Amino acid sequence: MSTSIPGEPWSTGVARDDEGALVVAGVPAARLAAEVGTPAYVLDEADLRARAAGYRRAFAAAFAEVGAGVDVYYAGKAFLSVAVARWVHDEGLRVDTASGGELAVALRAGVPGADLGLHGNNKSDDELALALEHGVGRIIVDSLVEIERLAALVRARGGAPAPVMVRVTTGVHAGGHEYISTAHEDQKFGLSVAAHGDGDSPAMTALLAVLSHPELHLLGIHSHIGSQILDPSGFEVAARVVLALRAALAERTGVLVDEVDLGGGYGIAYLPGDVALDPDRIAKDVAASVAAAAAELGTPLPRFSIEPGRAIVGPAGLTLYTVGTVKPVRVDDETERLYVSVDGGMSDNIRPALYGARYHAEVVGRLSSAPSVLARVVGKHCESGDVVVHEVQLPGDVRAGDLLAVAATGAYGRSMASNYNLLTRPPVVAVRGGEVRTLLRRETVDDLLALDQG
Ligand code: LLP
Repeated sequence: MSTSIPGEPWSTGVARDDEGALVVAGVPAARLAAEVGTPAYVLDEADLRARAAGYRRAFAAAFAEVGAGVDVYYAGKAFLSVAVARWVHDEGLRVDTASGGELAVALRAGVPGADLGLHGNNKSDDELALALEHGVGRIIVDSLVEIERLAALVRARGGAPAPVMVRVTTGVHAGGHEYISTAHEDQKFGLSVAAHGDGDSPAMTALLAVLSHPELHLLGIHSHIGSQILDPSGFEVAARVVLALRAALAERTGVLVDEVDLGGGYGIAYLPGDVALDPDRIAKDVAASVAAAAAELGTPLPRFSIEPGRAIVGPAGLTLYTVGTVKPVRVDDETERLYVSVDGGMSDNIRPALYGARYHAEVVGRLSSAPSVLARVVGKHCESGDVVVHEVQLPGDVRAGDLLAVAATGAYGRSMASNYNLLTRPPVVAVRGGEVRTLLRRETVDDLLALDQG
């Protein structure tokens, strides 16, 4: 049987024992299945911590080399629980949140407000007030309306000016292997750096609006260009655009803002043979390019920050399923595909259905010598697009009761999970040194019924 274990796209703690059964950080898959059931999200704690520390070290070293400081914020939207917020904070990261819910979890974890950021294109007054109450270190504003609302809230509450970054769009869009650069933007996030006619750009207008309010402190400029980026040049182009905007604002107002955030989006391996973005390399490239840009502009370097989410938690996670129905389906005269149904599906991983995202799966309870066959792993939902793994070679004798693991599901799996068909959402368990610990318990039908007011 061919197996990619150990190696990418699996977490570093994944191995097979002598019988061919998967072991994660010293815990056999069969034990996990017996203790917590399936489907289950399994997080390799040591792997996650090492990735968090690796990003922090790589960026700190590369930016120190050019004389700039850098902070790494973990993007909690990828997956956030109290334990994960603590782990990344222990490893020296701060936490980026995108809603009142994410903020509440990070606060429950004991992350100090000063180490938190709050994002969102449509934050509610309650979310802004929660951020002010806990002294959140940066509120990333996304519209002129929000700037006015935040200033009014601070005025009403009294107290220190709120630390604000303005989210701008640079026209750079990245994801997958390429980036594109366009002058104008047709999407909901940020304020464009492109001026229309003779007036100021929306980005400049917003920066000036923040400066005009004594209730707000303009900390800096924020740019996020996309997700699952494998070509580093998009970051470099966007960083140059942001530094030019910073210099233009300084020339106009005399205010040289202290910070620039370059967002998240660092790509990972999903399939055997994929090459993830290397944090050391990207940190060096981006640091060199911002240093060159600042020198050309004649401005000192700001403090930088980045917001990786997927690159920290994605590869650290896998999903464990149990195989149910197995059905050969004749596709055409040459091709037969084995449809392998598992006990979860699009409710625990919407990414294949939503983005056509590709994943890798292996049978992990045993070693099989059966020749492999073309298979598609599907869920148990009432929807033909309910695909977990579009195309994968599985042993031809795969059968009901087999354990099947899907690699690299740590990011945007549980965080985008739903109760479609009223399935209950799987637990998230952490494994480390042979120990299993439940971070989020499995939902029960009673949880679902408790929401229903009859
Ligand atoms: N910072 C900002 C402002 C963001 O909007 C995002 C992602 C990140 C950081 C983290 O990006 P990452 O390093 O995780 O790629 N649900 C999609 C991805 C949407 C990401 C939205 N923003 C997915 O499953 O691929």
